[in-house]
Amino acid sequence: MIDFFVFLGPPGAGKGTQAKVVASKLGIPQISSGDIFRENLKNKTELGIKANQFIKIGELVPDDITISMVRERITNADCASGAILDGFPRTPAQAMALDEMLVETGCEINKVPYIRVPENELVERLSGRLTCRAQGHVFHKKFNPPKEPGVCEHDGSELYQREDDKPETVARRIRVYEEQTQPLVDYYLQRGLLVEIDGDQQIDQVTADLVNLLEMVA
Ligand code: AP5
Ligand code: MG
Repeated sequence: MIDFFVFLGPPGAGKGTQAKVVASKLGIPQISSGDIFRENLKNKTELGIKANQFIKIGELVPDDITISMVRERITNADCASGAILDGFPRTPAQAMALDEMLVETGCEINKVPYIRVPENELVERLSGRLTCRAQGHVFHKKFNPPKEPGVCEHDGSELYQREDDKPETVARRIRVYEEQTQPLVDYYLQRGLLVEIDGDQQIDQVTADLVNLLEMVA
């Protein structure tokens, strides 16, 4: 069976930071719906421009747009050995659509690591985040500074502050998470797939906990 892992957690929990490292350790791709939207926006595609109307105010992009985008992505050949999903699903409708997609492709969700971090920490993380233009690598001004200011050490591209990391948009994203995404914690708990990970530790320690968990089941 081909295994998919869903990284669940609020904005700023460290899904992107961890998914990138863990995916490369496991030799499977990281699929970040937020990164795909931002890549589309950078290339000024119709999808990117439409999605950005929601992203910039901290709302979710409508399910139909998001689901068809991810459906196309996971049928790509590089997912033949599984993938880490980062930021998808984010609503019950997306979770059900994912279940259907995986049945169609003969895959299944193996584990859902739920990265927990206290809310006050989330705001500090997001307000100091720096994101790389080319591939979405993530840094933090204080907690994980780049070796050279303003430059991504992985691909040399420019680091920038995401438009949706402004304080008022961050607050909205956290509320939207609580209203629309938090119910997925129960959804996956009831199916015996959810495993809580303490995200309020050093980045390397969180990585070690995740790798332990995923290798155990991979
Ligand atoms: P998306 O890009 O997915 O944003 P998000 O869920 O809001 O999550 P973030 O990327 O903000 O946080 P993260 O958990 O990845 O944390 P990170 O590793 O960067 O989505 C953006 C928007 O796109 C959404 O608002 C929505 O509009 C739309 N969208 C995306 N997917 C969608 C979907 N499925 N349906 C509908 N709409 C969708 O870390 C944060 C910071 O903390 C960094 O600076 C990092 O260096 C630092 N940090 C990480 N770990 C630690 C640690 N252990 N200690 C200290 N600092 C740490
Ligand atoms: Mg992210």
